[in-house]
Amino acid sequence: MATAETNRTNNHKLIAWVDEMAGLTKPDNIQWCDGSKEEYDRLCAEMVEAGTLRPLNPDKRPGSFLANSDPDDVARVEDRTFVCSKEEQDAGPTNNWTDPVEMKATMNGLFDGSMQGRTMYVIPFSMGPLGSPIAHIGVQLTDSPYVAASMRVMTRMGQAALDVLGDEGEFVPCMHTVGAPLADGEADVPWPNNKTKYIVQYPEERAIWSYGSGYGGNALLGKKCFSLRIASVMARDEGWLAEHMLILGLESPAGEKTYVAAAFPSACGKTNLAMLIPPEGFDGWKVRTVGDDIAWIKPGDDGRLYAINPEAGYFGVVPGTSSKTNPSAMTMMESDTIFTNVALTDDGDVWWEGHDDDPPEHLIDWKGNDWTPDSDTPAAHPNARFTCATSQCPTADPAWDDPAGVPISAFIFGGRLSHTFPLVYQSLDWQHGVYMAATMGSEATAAAVNQAAIRRDPMAMLPFCGYNMADYWSHWLKLGNALKNPPKIFRVNWFRKDKDGGFAWPGFGQNMRVLNWIVDRVNGKEEAAESPFGYMPTYQDINWNGLDDFAADTFSEIMDIDREAGKREVEELKGYFEIFENRLPAEMEVQRQAFSERLDAAPEVWRISG
Ligand code: GTP
Ligand code: SPV
Ligand code: MN
Repeated sequence: MATAETNRTNNHKLIAWVDEMAGLTKPDNIQWCDGSKEEYDRLCAEMVEAGTLRPLNPDKRPGSFLANSDPDDVARVEDRTFVCSKEEQDAGPTNNWTDPVEMKATMNGLFDGSMQGRTMYVIPFSMGPLGSPIAHIGVQLTDSPYVAASMRVMTRMGQAALDVLGDEGEFVPCMHTVGAPLADGEADVPWPNNKTKYIVQYPEERAIWSYGSGYGGNALLGKKCFSLRIASVMARDEGWLAEHMLILGLESPAGEKTYVAAAFPSACGKTNLAMLIPPEGFDGWKVRTVGDDIAWIKPGDDGRLYAINPEAGYFGVVPGTSSKTNPSAMTMMESDTIFTNVALTDDGDVWWEGHDDDPPEHLIDWKGNDWTPDSDTPAAHPNARFTCATSQCPTADPAWDDPAGVPISAFIFGGRLSHTFPLVYQSLDWQHGVYMAATMGSEATAAAVNQAAIRRDPMAMLPFCGYNMADYWSHWLKLGNALKNPPKIFRVNWFRKDKDGGFAWPGFGQNMRVLNWIVDRVNGKEEAAESPFGYMPTYQDINWNGLDDFAADTFSEIMDIDREAGKREVEELKGYFEIFENRLPAEMEVQRQAFSERLDAAPEVWRISG
């Protein structure tokens, strides 16, 4: 049997846990990861050998690989994700819950012998800069070399994290198996996984058990499982915030720096906004990236909030990325990148829908089949991703790795909403802002035109909050009320559609115009109109330099408020709030009523003047 013995650490708790878990999962070998480049190269070479990775043409894409996952293992599995608090009420109505005693029995059964024929990798990692007072250590055990290699890119992984942990340090234990043991002599497949999948969080114990998937947030346990589901519980208990937010810094031509954090649901534009290149007309402005997915945010002594990005790499959506939508990401992916589920070109490079280049005559699609422009399935999976170190980000902020974090002046929330919601508005105060964020909706797909079903995704945290969502709102209310200088809160919507069903707002780099207004508001510079939704910019308040053809009438179309649509929203929220029963903070209903009254006092169509 494999032994957990190591000269890497004297942390007895860690060694005993690795030993116990090896006894349960029965791997052939145990490998403690040191996080070195040699180790990464070796893991990649072994995966090439096993058919998991294909090296890309070094002349086109040096140091890069393509992985094709099993078609049944392509994204997070929300219906298989569980928050197993002792009390069901503490998980709340928006999480799947099972009694932890029952779940542990199920997990022990599934993990028993699950690593047979495989190597167990011991992956110590730090979420946040090594040794930062805001950072936390986790240790993931996994039988997936793809996960081990990815964790080196996505986190500060290896010996350095073990050194920070020390002999007595605490860590979040993260158990992971793809759930595909190999019998003696049985050949492996390129992407082992199991049809049965469980992504389990035990919030009181701060432990994670993930079974059956090798993909993304299901398997890279530092990301959603630790940095959001478990960390949100730690944050509630300790008075901080763990959020599904990008962090960016805006530098004006005068050199003033303003940091903002923004929450959009998955695949709704965080990476795009985090790496925005200012458009024509914004000479001298710079957008600098601290993070593209997760923010840990703590109150500082000065009454402001300070944010760090707990991650050290990007796991970004590839389809739709081009030099028009995200030139920085295109630069980032030029080398040393692991691509998952994009298409392979005949010359050993990669291609995806939305790429600058027209579709080539022939490709191997993400499922490994021949593909031509006449094929009726996409060449890349819509959730295809790139894995790439932050150090490769051309717009990385100088403070991205600063253990102290960056001061946050504004929170921005935005969903994918084809109607009703304006391009941008600002909350009347903190409480109203929390209400705006908590009631955020987003359309699941862009398919339906006008009355598409809206999924409520509070703070973009629906799949990621590790406790009762209503308690999370109470936590937000309490935290902001205690701050001397709370950030200003905004809602944005890049996705409103025009009469013909196209996006009414050009978006991407042009979103800079909205960021500019937000910075102006934060710095107290601009007047604003007051609408039933909140404060809004007039046409004149927006900087239109370099975008001559966006007329005041068109602006009006994406800012107008339809009173009846607003009233329908108020009614829908009544039912939504009811599911939280007695946990709902009273403030939420106060805000809903106030919104309703503002709408009653408004004309049938509220138009932005100016
Ligand atoms: P996760 O990594 O899943 O958390 O998502 P993310 O929020 O980082 O998503 P990402 O930036 O990768 O979102 C990509 C999707 O958003 C693509 O479909 C883009 O085309 C779309 N998108 C991003 N910005 C804009 C915009 O300004 N306008 C429009 N219309 N679409 C946008
Ligand atoms: C998301 O789904 O919000 C992601 C991708 O950022 S994953 O890491 O798979 O959760
Ligand atoms: Mn995300």
